[in-house]
Amino acid sequence: MSPYSRITGTGSYLPPRRLSNADLAAELATQGVETSDEWIVERTGIRARHFAAPEVCTSDLGAAAARKAMEAAGVLPSEIDLIIVATSTPDMVFPSAACILQHKLGIAGCAAFDVQAVCSGFVYALTVADALIKTGSATKALVIGAEVFSRILDFKDRTTCVLFGDGAGAVVLEASETPGILATDLHADGKYVGILCVPGTVSGGQVLGDPLLKMDGQAVFKLAVGVLEDAARATLAKAGKTDADIDWLIPHQANIRIMQSTAKKLKLPLSKLIVTVDQHGNTSAASIPLALDTAVRNGTIQKGDTLMLEGVGGGFTWGAVLLNL
Ligand code: UT7
Repeated sequence: MSPYSRITGTGSYLPPRRLSNADLAAELATQGVETSDEWIVERTGIRARHFAAPEVCTSDLGAAAARKAMEAAGVLPSEIDLIIVATSTPDMVFPSAACILQHKLGIAGCAAFDVQAVCSGFVYALTVADALIKTGSATKALVIGAEVFSRILDFKDRTTCVLFGDGAGAVVLEASETPGILATDLHADGKYVGILCVPGTVSGGQVLGDPLLKMDGQAVFKLAVGVLEDAARATLAKAGKTDADIDWLIPHQANIRIMQSTAKKLKLPLSKLIVTVDQHGNTSAASIPLALDTAVRNGTIQKGDTLMLEGVGGGFTWGAVLLNL
């Protein structure tokens, strides 16, 4: 049994079809839905997003990201003994995207399951993997955030369809004698189900209710800013650290205004904020590992840096993970 878990490799994957705001606005205009690059950039910071081809599933995106993370970690698929996929857009009702992805990676036998905490999914999954490693149940885990949110968007609702994109990010989390994950903090409050949800369900061979995303953007915005500060402070306190110990803040990439106000509340200069929402849009559970991998691969984040990862989203769920890379 090892006292700690540590990220040893990161990877990500974006489907090739990229739509700028202008591309999306032009497509929406053909259906009588009016939006503009100016509105989207000013209100959200988003400039582009990627959409997966119709035959491409969450497990495909996740497997591509996982292969890159394993390569970066120098770990073979046969060494992986735990797979957790954070997703709200699994390939099927069941089995889990994790089981389908496991098979696509040529792995058999290890534990594989999904975690459903919407945009907080990756911090939930990382926390679960950390706990399983610390108790000796696993030694080399793949923790993946993967989504095809384009499948659940209502392209007649301009208040939501311009915000989201598809993609995947992954890390290899290994048992370690030196500290990697320093502290975690998870929360949920189900009384807020209605402010961000896909209310449809499958019953008797039919989809009942509306299977497209609904969001009260302003309610989510207000709640998000408060809980992100609280979760960061609770996590720092658990680790015996302060704001000043954070090298990089990687919040869920939903809206640049939420991200910047979180950084300000934590007294962090905006230069310490990792931003990929401009290029990826909101990819839900994939957004944090996508941002992490992007910043690792472009040399912004270095080994040994202290990172604060923060998720917030439907449920309502929120949480944070503080770690040394
Ligand atoms: O991943 C989970 C976390 N999710 C989030 O963090 C999302 C949080 N919420 C937000 O990011 C913001 O609330 C939004 C980006 C969703 C909306 O921004 P807002 O500044 O709260 O705008 P609003 O909803 O108050 O809308 C302002 C105006 C409205 O027009 P009127 O009523 O003032 O005439 C909307 O109809 O903007 C209009 N509008 C648009 N106009 C052009 C809404 N969507 C669009 C659009 N293009 N796509």
